[in-house]
Amino acid sequence: MAKLDGKVALITGGTTGIGAATARLFKAEGASVVVTGANPNSLEAARAELPGIEVVLSDQADPGASAALADAVAARHGRIDILFVNAGVAAFSPLDQLTEEDFDRQFGINVRGALFAAKAAAPHIPQGGSIIFTASTAASLGMAATSVYSASKAAVRSFARSLGAELAPRGVRVNAISPGPIETPIFGKSGLSAEQIEGFKSDITSRVPLGRIGRPEEIAAAVLFLAADATFITGEEIIAGGGMAVI
Ligand SMILES: NC(=O)c1ccc[n+]([C@@H]2O[C@H](COP(=O)([O-])OP(=O)(O)OC[C@H]3O[C@@H](n4cnc5c(N)ncnc54)[C@H](OP(=O)(O)O)[C@@H]3O)[C@@H](O)[C@H]2O)c1
Repeated sequence: MAKLDGKVALITGGTTGIGAATARLFKAEGASVVVTGANPNSLEAARAELPGIEVVLSDQADPGASAALADAVAARHGRIDILFVNAGVAAFSPLDQLTEEDFDRQFGINVRGALFAAKAAAPHIPQGGSIIFTASTAASLGMAATSVYSASKAAVRSFARSLGAELAPRGVRVNAISPGPIETPIFGKSGLSAEQIEGFKSDITSRVPLGRIGRPEEIAAAVLFLAADATFITGEEIIAGGGMAVI
């Protein structure tokens, strides 16, 4: 029997990268999977690349959209067994170049939006279900130019603890996955030039004890563990960064 037979999974930010890899793995393990994105172009591409997976436009920055989404998924599938709050954006600037718009955008999607996505789905999650937030090794490191992004991920890490405590009496587990550097389209969306991205990647690779950037499928495997196998684990974080931030 597959690990997620008969389960319903909602993955925010599942059109590319870590979310898409997790959607594929969850589907292969028997789940009905719904993924979201906010960019109409990547939604179209995702519909072609993720056969058998429902791909929906829903902006995580908008709590009203998250509420409508959760209600629609629950109405269609009866419940939401697994919520993977994964949609996120990254922009890197040193303090003197920081803008209020940058701050509001990252906190609006990564923090405010993530929390309200959980609020919207929680009433539809039955006993035995779980919420997984995508945080980051950035939450536990001090790296130049990442103040806003890192703080947004530290907030998300914290949500797993607080909501873990809140939802434990209902038998719903809440955990975080904290990837290190993973090869996904996120760097291309960060506002950095191709040259800056290459420089960033080679610098960050030198800080990873395993000496390489990870693959989205390696994070999906850890998310599946949290969703399906980790039945006595809540409020926790799995750091999947090739040793980064821990050794
Ligand atoms: N890659 C890394 O090195 C790394 C490391 C640690 C943590 N993370 C975290 O992992 C998560 C996934 O990132 P990724 O690396 O897989 O990058 P990605 O390929 O860019 O995936 C991000 C996903 O989020 C979606 N998204 C962005 N803004 C959204 C919004 N407002 N509403 C709904 N969906 C939205 C994107 O869709 P559209 O762009 O099409 O809207 C896409 O599906 C993020 O939370 C990121 O911070 C990544």
